[in-house]
Amino acid sequence: MTKVIQTIAVRKPDDWHLHLRTGRILKEVLKYSSSNFGRAIIMPNLDPPVVTTQQAKNYCNQILDFIPKEHDFKPLMTLFLTEDSDIRDIEEGVKEGIINAVKLYPAGATTNSENGVRNISKVYKLLEKISFLGIPLLIHGEATQSKIDVFDRESVFVTESLIPLRKRIPNLRIVLEHITTKDSADYVLDSDQNLAATITPHHLIINRNSMFIGGIRPHYYCLPLAKRELHRLALIKAATSGSSKFFLGTDSAPHFDHLKENACGCAGIFSTPNALSCLAHIFEQELALEKLEKFISLNGARYYGLPVNKSYTKFSKMNTPKETPKKINVGENSITVFDPGFSLFWEHKNIRDKN
Ligand code: DOR
Ligand code: ZN
Repeated sequence: MTKVIQTIAVRKPDDWHLHLRTGRILKEVLKYSSSNFGRAIIMPNLDPPVVTTQQAKNYCNQILDFIPKEHDFKPLMTLFLTEDSDIRDIEEGVKEGIINAVKLYPAGATTNSENGVRNISKVYKLLEKISFLGIPLLIHGEATQSKIDVFDRESVFVTESLIPLRKRIPNLRIVLEHITTKDSADYVLDSDQNLAATITPHHLIINRNSMFIGGIRPHYYCLPLAKRELHRLALIKAATSGSSKFFLGTDSAPHFDHLKENACGCAGIFSTPNALSCLAHIFEQELALEKLEKFISLNGARYYGLPVNKSYTKFSKMNTPKETPKKINVGENSITVFDPGFSLFWEHKNIRDKN
């Protein structure tokens, strides 16, 4: 029998940045989110992207169809912003309670983002109107010009696009998604209440060396790329600080193994099955377990203006490592689960009340 050596109960967590895809992948990956999280912000970078409220409704229904009956999970839908997005449609979607955020991808920055924004000044007018809707703008913050070094793309975006945008529309509520640098963490921390950031479990665990240990490691390839160790340490400091500006967005992004282990492999790390165990491990190591609830369950809901979940999640530390799946199968294909490179000792289960 494994002995429990420590427990902690927190409000049920939410995932403020999640890729679920569609069809067979959706069916297989969804249960890992719907069992562990109360809600998730669903990314709209499908092929074709989710641009209209009607498309978001259709996608939402697809997701709802696949949620196992015993799970209590709400998908929070988002729209993919283009230079031609229709503000009346966005307004309608927000009024109907379907649309919870709009996502800005610089064109070409990542998976299925070709229809994203080429010139941010072209969407200023739209963004000004979005600033009155009470929903946040979610930003994939990477500059895309090919001349920019891939490791500098986030910092160039912050300097050249985010800072001017925030000067121009200070009332726009923004989430800078999946931050990867100390500079971003410092900028977010020093800014006013209209800027917050999500942080992924994998950017708290891997640095840029992790992609190249003994050979190329495609399952650690994601965008934005993991950066130097000093940045990883700064992200850990931010996440475990208790600051309300930082919250969990797993950016769990499943791709088939043959498309990642490929001459031109896809970016994305599928982390949902062990994301919470990884986080409990990190917060424990930082002697910050009492801040875990803020990062995974409280800060995000507050920034989105939503109530926290009613039920709880109980974490228990076991004295023998937890078995985690290495891969999941989708028909004849497989998807590799994020391997943190250390044993996981923290289990968790959903409970109704705290005690
Ligand atoms: O690594 C990533 N994968 N980063 C993103 O921004 C998108 C995601 C995906 O959709 O595969
Ligand atoms: Zn993402």
